[in-house]
Amino acid sequence: MTVKSPADTLLLGGGGREHAMARMLSQSDSIGRIHCAPGNPGIAALAEIHKFDIRDGAAVTDFCLSHGIDLVVIGPEAPLVAGVPDALRGAGIPVFGPGRDGARLEGSKAFSKLFMKRHGIPTAPFDICRALGECEHAIERREPPYVIKADGLAAGKGVFLPERKAEALDVCRELLEGRTLGDAGCTIVVEDYMPGHELTVFAVTDGKSYRILPPSRDHKRAYDGDKGPNTGGMGAYSPVSLPGKLMDRVADEVLRPTLAGLAAENVDYRGVIYMGLMLSDERDGVKISVVEYNVRFGDPEAQAVLPLLSGDFGFLALKTALGELDACPETAFSGYALCVVLAAGGYPGEFKKGDEISGLDRDAEFEDTYVFHAGTAANGDGKMLSNGGRVLGVTGVGSTFESARERAYARASAVRFDGMYYRRDIGWSECA
Ligand code: GLY
Repeated sequence: MTVKSPADTLLLGGGGREHAMARMLSQSDSIGRIHCAPGNPGIAALAEIHKFDIRDGAAVTDFCLSHGIDLVVIGPEAPLVAGVPDALRGAGIPVFGPGRDGARLEGSKAFSKLFMKRHGIPTAPFDICRALGECEHAIERREPPYVIKADGLAAGKGVFLPERKAEALDVCRELLEGRTLGDAGCTIVVEDYMPGHELTVFAVTDGKSYRILPPSRDHKRAYDGDKGPNTGGMGAYSPVSLPGKLMDRVADEVLRPTLAGLAAENVDYRGVIYMGLMLSDERDGVKISVVEYNVRFGDPEAQAVLPLLSGDFGFLALKTALGELDACPETAFSGYALCVVLAAGGYPGEFKKGDEISGLDRDAEFEDTYVFHAGTAANGDGKMLSNGGRVLGVTGVGSTFESARERAYARASAVRFDGMYYRRDIGWSECA
């Protein structure tokens, strides 16, 4: 298939991840005009912003046909799980993002666990439960902490780690009978707890070839020392120091069997595979297990990984969407990056919106930093306001981990809004 060059592109999404993607697309010779829905005020400096339902395949396709869009790049999971790429491909529009069949790897935890079992991909032993009695049996057979996962998409609120049996059973009852997460909690995965260190690895693939991106580490708890409630992610850094050959093992033990499994199940997968891994120390070395797959870049991990790419992200996305990734040069990455999320007071619980943000106009004072918008709104008066839980992602890059970290924190300290808080220990495991 041939595509107009440069390709007019629609980017779907409106968080920090999509701001980082928009920045990479805007630097690409392969990409022409950039449109984005729903976007955010940061992305608005790089793209034309539109409002329509990004989970509605017909609405997205109509927009593309009426605006001469040559490529669609999808950031978040919701349009992928909803099958938006299938509608677009049906209309002949190339998409960076898997269709509904591939998106089940993220859209259904039960599906992804069974997929791993079918294809010999290492993961924690599990039970799939649809009734309280099945949950009770699955909990009874395990040691605390109990790992309870709602099957469907739950915006980061579907994983529970209760310490007591009674508590674990209450969680299952609330999901199954209280329907606290609606249909997402009608099926439950109960699995063994895996101790260790988490690692995120992204691969871009068109199902035939792949490119592995530098490993990153997210910090999901709200407060320093990995304390407090789980969040969507309070910061990330990349690359992570790892024992020699570990990334080769990720490719051999996880990525290649995953791609072979998708091919064997006739899934034409074009986009990102996010491998959420647990590295556990065992007597005979580090054991790698898959905690979860996602079918898109992680957020905030993308805000640390994408700035390291020295190649052309637009060309990579285009060739992936066309199924011609083998024509893309090997991806080159250099340096270190660290992203700190600036959050609204109270997040991930109740938080206030509408507080004025200062310090956004001070980029020129800081070397090698990016401020990515996530939950912001422009008030039309030249002021920027907080408009979400995770408000901004501040990334520093440098030739060493320490310089990236110093830059990110220096830039973060120049931003203010009422109630703002952020973790001061992103990347702590590199300093230990
Ligand atoms: N940072 C975790 C995620 O994107 O799922």
